[in-house]
Amino acid sequence: MLLLEKIDLSKLPKHIAIIMDGNGRWAKKKNLPRVFGHRAGMKSVQKIVETCVQLKIEVLTLYAFSTENWIRPKTEIGALMTLLQNYLKIEFERMMDNNIQLRTIGDISKLPKTPHKELVKVMQKTKSNTGLVLNLALNYGSRQEIMNAITRILESRKNKVDQKTFESYLDTSGLPDPDLIIRTSGEMRLSNFLLWQCAYSELYVTPVLWPDFKPENLYEAIADFQKRERRFGGV
Ligand code: FPP
Repeated sequence: MLLLEKIDLSKLPKHIAIIMDGNGRWAKKKNLPRVFGHRAGMKSVQKIVETCVQLKIEVLTLYAFSTENWIRPKTEIGALMTLLQNYLKIEFERMMDNNIQLRTIGDISKLPKTPHKELVKVMQKTKSNTGLVLNLALNYGSRQEIMNAITRILESRKNKVDQKTFESYLDTSGLPDPDLIIRTSGEMRLSNFLLWQCAYSELYVTPVLWPDFKPENLYEAIADFQKRERRFGGV
């Protein structure tokens, strides 16, 4: 039986978030420079976005560059930024054809000028699309996001804040919390990703390295998610 047939299409997660890990290890295994791993990782991004469109998932958040990733060698950072730029150029038309809305979380103003410009352009042009929200986490760190929210709340001189108001100050404002968080390449940690929003997310860790992560692996994660009983603190 195909894995897709194991999925109940009426009980899909609304929001899937992915920590795309293992590009470097994939390249190392093949005796290739790390950049080749990132390039192969971009191909996985293309396939997984396409699959989420087919499944009619509402939001897909991809952890593409963290606030901690700046300590990597300059050449690797440069290569990642070029890949992002290329990705946006190659995928823009497909985003329009597939009704995808591009969003970001994280401080994108600190990204190099060209990818930043491209991001702003594509977000502007896709902002009225009503299909999948493709949410790229770029220069994103959850602690930074929470600190920024607190700073802005203090600046607004509010003397009382409830959860809903607090959430409206987060980068993910308006998006549902992730139902399913997937991490590839086996590490059992969240690495400063969506720490507030993950309160009731189901976690799925697979040993598969991100460049090897195929639509079948996504179906597997969703099938596993559907087997779990989500009680949100109830009985
Ligand atoms: C983690 O693997 C991956 C990243 C830090 C970057 C993710 C980027 C991509 C998948 C490429 C393009 C993305 C877009 C959105 C166009 P790692 O390098 O930390 O792997 P390792 O832990 O095996 O070294």
